[in-house]
Amino acid sequence: MILVTGGAGFIGSNFVLNWLSEIKEPIVNVDKLTYAGNLSNLALVEKVNHYFIRGDICDKELLLAILKKYQPRAIIHFAAESHVDRSIHGPSEFIKTNIEGTFNLLEISRNYWTNLTGEGKKNFRFLHVSTDEVFGSLSYSDSPFTEKSPYLPNSPYSASKASSDHLVRAWFHTYGLPILIGNCSNNYGPFQFPEKLIPLMILNALSGKKLPIYGDGKQIRDWLYVIDHCNALQKILFEGIPGETYNIGGQNEKTNLSVVIKICDLLDKLSPGKNSYKDQIIFIKDRPGHDIRYAINSKKIVDKLNWVPKENFDTGIEKTVNWYLQNKQWINKIISGDYLKWMDKNYESDSIGGF
Ligand code: NAD
Ligand code: DAU
Repeated sequence: MILVTGGAGFIGSNFVLNWLSEIKEPIVNVDKLTYAGNLSNLALVEKVNHYFIRGDICDKELLLAILKKYQPRAIIHFAAESHVDRSIHGPSEFIKTNIEGTFNLLEISRNYWTNLTGEGKKNFRFLHVSTDEVFGSLSYSDSPFTEKSPYLPNSPYSASKASSDHLVRAWFHTYGLPILIGNCSNNYGPFQFPEKLIPLMILNALSGKKLPIYGDGKQIRDWLYVIDHCNALQKILFEGIPGETYNIGGQNEKTNLSVVIKICDLLDKLSPGKNSYKDQIIFIKDRPGHDIRYAINSKKIVDKLNWVPKENFDTGIEKTVNWYLQNKQWINKIISGDYLKWMDKNYESDSIGGF
């Protein structure tokens, strides 16, 4: 079996669902269930192959007991605080989970792996799920990030992820722990918590609220459908070379404004209102230290591991908008006390209304 951390979050839960339907190997899933973790993401999971444990990756004793009991052949590490805006309001949890939590997991894994023998030891893998944000910000004319791009993180979130990448890399070079790292661009798809751009815009549009674009909306992100990321992680786990990192991107560079307009156009078609949803767009004060552009050169994973994304932005975003239209129950569960408090806090000075 494999061990997944953070498997009740957005990417982790998609990974678990996808893995159990395709690979069918059991998973033990450790998740603290912070505001971003949601067991209803896993409602359709095959219970027989899925062992869920509510726990913190900073809890050494718990992790030791889990490894001892389940003896996983690999660890896929998703658990993190993941939202840039939250890291700006309060970085402390990011330092705790992303840096100390990863350190803790590495130490427990090293201890576990050191005591393995034979094939179990040879085949063990620690796959760290990371982000393109560790490379910092590109100008509009720079070449996309490669695996050799320097680390220049700009936000508390990206700095904490960069730190965790450095720790993971060091555990390979110093101790020989067979690690792998994936640095991926912006994911979107089912089960994404509606604090992130795409689900936030879909939900705000449908409930008649403003669509708040930071600054001029000309910042660029590269978008990858979440299942394509999950498939890339599978490839890295099965065929990646220990010690190596792989950049994962969708070749879908879009300005934020064009993403929001695309969502409005789809909603105008799939769930028309009296006026176009575009009328709800407003421009608000910019995110502090806002990175201008991310773009990924995926040549290594395409050439070496034969990975290609199945979705382009047009197909992926239509699936995503449809998913949110068809999963009102999931949405209603999320939009409760804590979520509303966050929306007030992040957008209050812009009085975008309706929160
Ligand atoms: P998410 O915020 O949706 O989910 C994170 C999960 O981790 C939640 O289920 C949460 O409960 C859990 N968690 C948080 N702290 C924990 C702790 N101390 N112990 C155990 N569990 C804890 O995040 P996501 O968007 O699914 O991202 C998953 C991983 O992928 C993160 O490491 C993130 O940095 C990375 N990543 C995300 C994106 C993206 O676009 N979302 C892109 C590239 C990389
Ligand atoms: O690049 C990968 C990263 O993508 C991941 O590592 C992070 O975990 C993930 O959250 C994401 O970070 P971003 O900051 O790029 O994603 P977010 O959805 O928060 O914002 C996307 C862009 O949209 C960004 O330029 C800020 C802008 N934005 C966001 C929100 C929430 C707005 O204009 N308005 C908003 O209300």
